[in-house]
Amino acid sequence: MTAVAAQQSGPRHVAIIMDGNGRWAQARGRPRLFGHHAGARRVREIVEACPDLGVKYLTIFAFSTENWKRTQVEVAGLMSLFRRYITKEARALFNEGVRVRFIGDRVKLDKKLIALMDELEQITAGNDRVHLTIALNYGGRDEVARATKRLAEDVAAGRLDPAKVDEETLPRYLDTCVLPDPDLVIRTSGEARISNFLLWQSAYAEYEFIDTLWPDFTAEIFAGIVGSYAGRDRRFGGVKV
Ligand code: FPP
Repeated sequence: MTAVAAQQSGPRHVAIIMDGNGRWAQARGRPRLFGHHAGARRVREIVEACPDLGVKYLTIFAFSTENWKRTQVEVAGLMSLFRRYITKEARALFNEGVRVRFIGDRVKLDKKLIALMDELEQITAGNDRVHLTIALNYGGRDEVARATKRLAEDVAAGRLDPAKVDEETLPRYLDTCVLPDPDLVIRTSGEARISNFLLWQSAYAEYEFIDTLWPDFTAEIFAGIVGSYAGRDRRFGGVKV
């Protein structure tokens, strides 16, 4: 398929659950963090593939609200990887025209990481070629709970009329309020579940579960999935006329 055709019929927003780093490392007799580092190196290739595929928005699940249950060594290693990734990749992301946003609850993250996240969002704020959203300490239920709390505060303060709350209201309070809903959600590593990712936003997304482990996920595989999306018949609950 040509890039132009993909732009017309392909997904505008793709979300990815990058799973399988641990198993990839284990298969090589290496510690889990080795797999996370290999996984982080894959991100650039996938981001850079987006413009030609007509993918304007890419959202990736880097760390969930449940991932704190992992060992202290793995959690600390991941946090250090995120700090390093932002520091090392900021220039390349900026030069590629990528606008970076983070979603998730920042409260539990360390101050240095939060400062790096803020800085990367600020320096890339003028970019528009690809919108990369990194979900970090993100959980769909947590996001809806935080949004509901802010909505309730607005009702209590008289800024929002509860009689006017409808399904357009809550998304304005979600972390993703400026993003379109994902058209396609991909999960690598053979697991067929959504693990609390973009629960509200993915109500009508198409799903693709593939066996490839995230560190082996190439731009070519990505292009194949994006290309096959064009053949899907999305009816959003309606019927084809
Ligand atoms: C799931 O694989 C992956 C994660 C919890 C971390 C995702 C992080 C990265 C891909 C690297 C960093 C990303 C950025 C943006 C720098 P798993 O460890 O659960 O794999 P397993 O199921 O095989 O154990």
